Amino acid sequence: MAASLPEGAVIALDRRVARLHPALEPALARSRPRAVVMLEGAERTKSLVTVERLARAAQTLPRSGALVAIGGGTIGDVATVAAHLVKRGVPILHVPTTLLASVDSSLGGKGAVNAGGVKNALGVFHYAERTFLCSEFFGTLPEAQLREGAIEAWKMAVCLDASTWERWSRSPPSQETLVREARRLKAVVCEADPYERLGVRTVLNFGHTFGHVVESATRFRVRHGEAVGLGMLCALDVGRAVGTTSESVAREVEQRLYQFPRVGSRARLAKGLERVRPKDVEAPLAADKKAGTAGEFRMVLLGEIGDWTIEAVPASAWRPLFEAWKAGRRP
Ligand SMILES: NC(=O)c1ccc[n+]([C@@H]2O[C@H](COP(=O)([O-])OP(=O)(O)OC[C@H]3O[C@@H](n4cnc5c(N)ncnc54)[C@H](O)[C@@H]3O)[C@@H](O)[C@H]2O)c1
Ligand SMILES: [Zn+2]
Repeated sequence: MAASLPEGAVIALDRRVARLHPALEPALARSRPRAVVMLEGAERTKSLVTVERLARAAQTLPRSGALVAIGGGTIGDVATVAAHLVKRGVPILHVPTTLLASVDSSLGGKGAVNAGGVKNALGVFHYAERTFLCSEFFGTLPEAQLREGAIEAWKMAVCLDASTWERWSRSPPSQETLVREARRLKAVVCEADPYERLGVRTVLNFGHTFGHVVESATRFRVRHGEAVGLGMLCALDVGRAVGTTSESVAREVEQRLYQFPRVGSRARLAKGLERVRPKDVEAPLAADKKAGTAGEFRMVLLGEIGDWTIEAVPASAWRPLFEAWKAGRRP
């Protein structure tokens, strides 16, 4: 990858990645970057302050120059915003170093920073000029982060492509295959709706409705990917309750999710919802733009494997499931 980078780029580099992969910086130096800006791979880095730091480093960058993001989704997101704004737009190149960034955040053009206490409050679409996939980076990722990347990938397979799902279920894919195939699935969705105007990209929110509830209820101690895994269990239950998801599909998907990307158990879901009351669910969902005008939630549900729909789910459909979720039972 380092050998293919354009000369004189501005590089936003995750400090931890630089430390864990000591050969990286000397290799990057060979492309004579204009600047290497070391950043912490953390939510607080997704700020306008970081955008300004990157803009300052890019002051002498020609419009044909490039900004390169090397890190997880936080580095990719903030660098995307900077690339969109510097000189009214310079190319962004992604080198995702987490499994999540490789299957998800480095693809689809979105970048964002947090502002006013709101996550992703300021965002842009700015598609990558190029993305370098380097699975060597995954060797230093903790198990929990590998799991969350895999969960997002399996989410794409279950919603978008039955044959991928079946193949992966028969024999779990290598990390390279998982990344390549999940990216292909996401790319088709993003190509159909590059600026999120048609609702097609909503499919990527499968599992995110109740996933976000678990994330915020646990003050983000449950990582995003894991919360999405638990949220998929909820979405399968809701699907059964409204008659969209058959019992056999829901059972098959739930078993596979435990088996392969190793989604947490029902007990883990119960723990995540420990202090949550049904009324606490409504506020974050409303803030999440997923609530309809009559208090119903628009949720991505599974029909068959590889076939999704968006449905308005009334409170009368999901509220009765809550007790079972909190008790660690499958409703
Ligand atoms: N733009 C999008 O479409 C999109 C999609 C999904 C998520 N996101 C965003 O992505 C962010 C989460 O990103 P993430 O989970 O990829 O990681 P991250 O950037 O939050 O990094 C998590 C941790 O992993 C470390 N790390 C990164 N690469 C490593 C490696 N190879 N080895 C060891 N440690 C490594 C980082 O230093 C950090 O400590 C969130 O801010 C989320 O909003 C964006
Ligand atoms: Zn997600």
